[in-house]
Amino acid sequence: MTAKDKVVICDVAPRDGFQVVGPWIETATKIAVVERLAGAGFLRIETGAFVSPKAVPQMQDAADVHKGANVPAGTRLSSLIPNVKGAELAFGAGINDLVYVFSVSESHNQSNVRRSTVDSIEELGRVIDIGKDRDGFKLRVNMATVFDCTFEGRVAEDRVYACIEQALGFGLACEFGLCDTTGRAFPDHVAGIAEGCRQRFGDGELARWAFHGHDTFGLGVANALYAYQAGIRVFDAACAGLGGCPFAPGATGNTASEDLVFTFENMGISTGIDLAKLLETAEFVAGLDGVATGGHLRTVPRKRALAAA
Ligand code: COA
Ligand code: ZN
Repeated sequence: MTAKDKVVICDVAPRDGFQVVGPWIETATKIAVVERLAGAGFLRIETGAFVSPKAVPQMQDAADVHKGANVPAGTRLSSLIPNVKGAELAFGAGINDLVYVFSVSESHNQSNVRRSTVDSIEELGRVIDIGKDRDGFKLRVNMATVFDCTFEGRVAEDRVYACIEQALGFGLACEFGLCDTTGRAFPDHVAGIAEGCRQRFGDGELARWAFHGHDTFGLGVANALYAYQAGIRVFDAACAGLGGCPFAPGATGNTASEDLVFTFENMGISTGIDLAKLLETAEFVAGLDGVATGGHLRTVPRKRALAAA
């Protein structure tokens, strides 16, 4: 690795993290978290989700959070959607940077968005039709349960590639998020799929790649590093290790952003993130009512955490 190596970390705490928090988090607090993350240097932040308020009540102020956050020019704020209705609501609010989610495993897709994987991919085509001519339209396709499904176990590799092939058939260049929704992927599996994707579909023209990890089994950082070795340069993580899917029982938080920043920076890989500011933000988030935290770095003496290796 050279000093020029760089990664982009997208903090997803305001979406993946807050979606599982029971007590209502005030809109102003959510906005403050987005602004603090941007202030710490994150160039990408997932601010919320346009999903059924009955399914995930905490996300119902997604438009207000997204539009209320005052972040430096160049910071990308994105919103998750599960269907055309979500896209219409986001576009209606002037939000064009979207993350469309579906699951590779059938049972998790049914549990999460109440339809088959094939139907979700078809609906992705309709989202692309509506969005492709909009100025500034950007699409991440988050493929949940790429590695493991709570209900079905290890997911067949061929199924992952078949889903990507269908999605690419719509002709739009997009970034695919390879999501370890349950946190039960192992590093060799992550590297194998990441390499398989890049070999089959290239990297940069039509398809680009990101890794979205959860730390349920303590493998979040290791998995991200194997994804890095396999050529991935965009990572999702959540400050204070928040996160979890309400429809994947047993899955815990995302890999903590501060753990990932600490690791990359001390390996000479630049994240562009100010670790001290990120840790302050993580403390703020960890103090919110009803959040379940994870990660390691917050628990070690701050001086040790911030001392360069
Ligand atoms: N945003 C807001 N409301 C939505 C919506 C969206 N994207 N999509 C549907 N709705 C509303 C409908 O208008 C309808 O409202 P009503 O009951 O007041 O008439 C209701 O939700 C049900 O709509 P329907 O199309 O029948 O959806 P469904 O009940 O089959 O649920 C989803 C499907 C996808 C809307 C729902 O399962 C969902 O929101 N899942 C998201 C899960 C999630 O966020 N998981 C974590 C992130 S991966
Ligand atoms: Zn997740």
